Amino acid sequence: MTRTRCDRTPAWALLKNAYNATGKSFDLRAAFAADPKRFETFSQSAPGVFADLSKNLIDSATQTLLFQLAREAGVCIHRDAMFAGEKINTTEAREVWHVLLRKPANAPTASAHEAAELAKVHATLDAMLTFAERVRADVDITDVVNIGIGGSDLGPQMAVLALDAFATTGKRLHFVSNVDGHELAATLSKLDAKKTLFLIASKTFTTIETMTNAQSAKRWFIEQGQTDTARHFAALTTNVAAAKACGIETTFGFWDWVGGRYSLWSAIGLPLAIAIGAQGFREFLAGAHAMDEHFRSSPIESNLPVRLGLLDVWYRNFHGFTSRSIAPYHSALRRLPAYLQQLEMESNGKRVDASGSILPFGTSPVLWGEAGTNGQHAYFQMLHQGIDVVPVEFVAVKKPQHTLEAHHPLLLANALAQAQALMVGQADADGHQDFPGNRPSTFLLLEGLTPTSLGALIALQEHRVFVSGSLWGINSFDQWGVELGKVLAKDIAPRLQSGDTRGLDGSTAGLLGLLRS
Ligand code: F6P
Repeated sequence: MTRTRCDRTPAWALLKNAYNATGKSFDLRAAFAADPKRFETFSQSAPGVFADLSKNLIDSATQTLLFQLAREAGVCIHRDAMFAGEKINTTEAREVWHVLLRKPANAPTASAHEAAELAKVHATLDAMLTFAERVRADVDITDVVNIGIGGSDLGPQMAVLALDAFATTGKRLHFVSNVDGHELAATLSKLDAKKTLFLIASKTFTTIETMTNAQSAKRWFIEQGQTDTARHFAALTTNVAAAKACGIETTFGFWDWVGGRYSLWSAIGLPLAIAIGAQGFREFLAGAHAMDEHFRSSPIESNLPVRLGLLDVWYRNFHGFTSRSIAPYHSALRRLPAYLQQLEMESNGKRVDASGSILPFGTSPVLWGEAGTNGQHAYFQMLHQGIDVVPVEFVAVKKPQHTLEAHHPLLLANALAQAQALMVGQADADGHQDFPGNRPSTFLLLEGLTPTSLGALIALQEHRVFVSGSLWGINSFDQWGVELGKVLAKDIAPRLQSGDTRGLDGSTAGLLGLLRS
């Protein structure tokens, strides 16, 4: 597989020239005035998602150079290697095969290995969905508690909230991630042990937060006079042996080729399957698969993940924008920003390329955001009038799931107005009411927020992160950056008991002393 880091392609130098010549002075208002078809030219339909890219700081000539960049960097070759199950996670020598989790059982496969893995995927999926339906039908289970962190929490939590309108009645879903005992204690205080199912979600089954919460939950369960752990505990993990060693007999496995932040489609999705049912979960997978097919087979020029990933690179490396704000105009999508933070920043927050060389350019932007109009009354001031330019990604849904009159048109009007205000601005000689405008945004539109469209939206985000990571030449699929803190916490925890500060820096030793006093 041939990959060329973006800055080593001929297109990179051409883009630099284009940025200096026209890119940095590009004006959206002038671009719309000059081109009545700009909306059509810079829009892109993809399965489940329509994207208006026209309010981005880009003209056709730059876009053509960006397409050239994608070709010269070998993004499509890299993408095909992922779909073919090559070990593109080179630092961990693993395949990156989350797309297989949403591939239909009868779809053609390219190798005997893929066919064997796909058969395992569907055997586990069928078992997990049968279990989900059993739980849904079990009136004696009223509460389901997912204990997991990172990818074993953010995905299912975001999706369960997003698809609340499709959820079964009579079951409450809880998510406990933090090792802060306040979180677990507050959750347990609301539960009746004999009516609760605990899902212990951990790819590795070694994560200290999850293991600590799981042990405390089990202790509490037994203290409540309960004994049937086989009925009340299930593990979702690649490390089935470790789960069994912890006394959890009901297990649903997955494979080391599923990255934690890409695991929502595996057994880690069980809370979602319990919430929306087997059929809903299959629709969620189908939505993602449709986006996979779009990414795998559309030409670069009409490939939405490619177009978004190219814009991300254009903004980060040419305009020098360091963050992107996510603005979902649907309150059920309020955990989307948190989910996307892990997806993008854990994948692409890297400072070396795949061969370990220090990169001479920036990579992952900071992602942040809030549900729609709430953000307007908090930090949109800075988006409109702050010194820094922050591209905004709006996510709106055409059809609401409620019947309250007037609310949805008002919500959508706000989304449109914010995107418009960012772009058009407002002149004021005094300065205080001057809006510079020309601030870029992307507008993603879903027809409705359904299992299918949510699956497509999330797969779209996964693939756009793949595209920018591929262009930057990094390995988007490891996360060594989280390891050092874990090691140091293991060293510090016993010192909090013993008071031993030998070998610690002055600040850590001082704080440790205060915490023990
Ligand atoms: O700490 C980062 C991380 O490794 C994430 O990549 C992962 O999603 C999370 O921890 C949880 O890991 P696990 O599912 O193995 O408990």
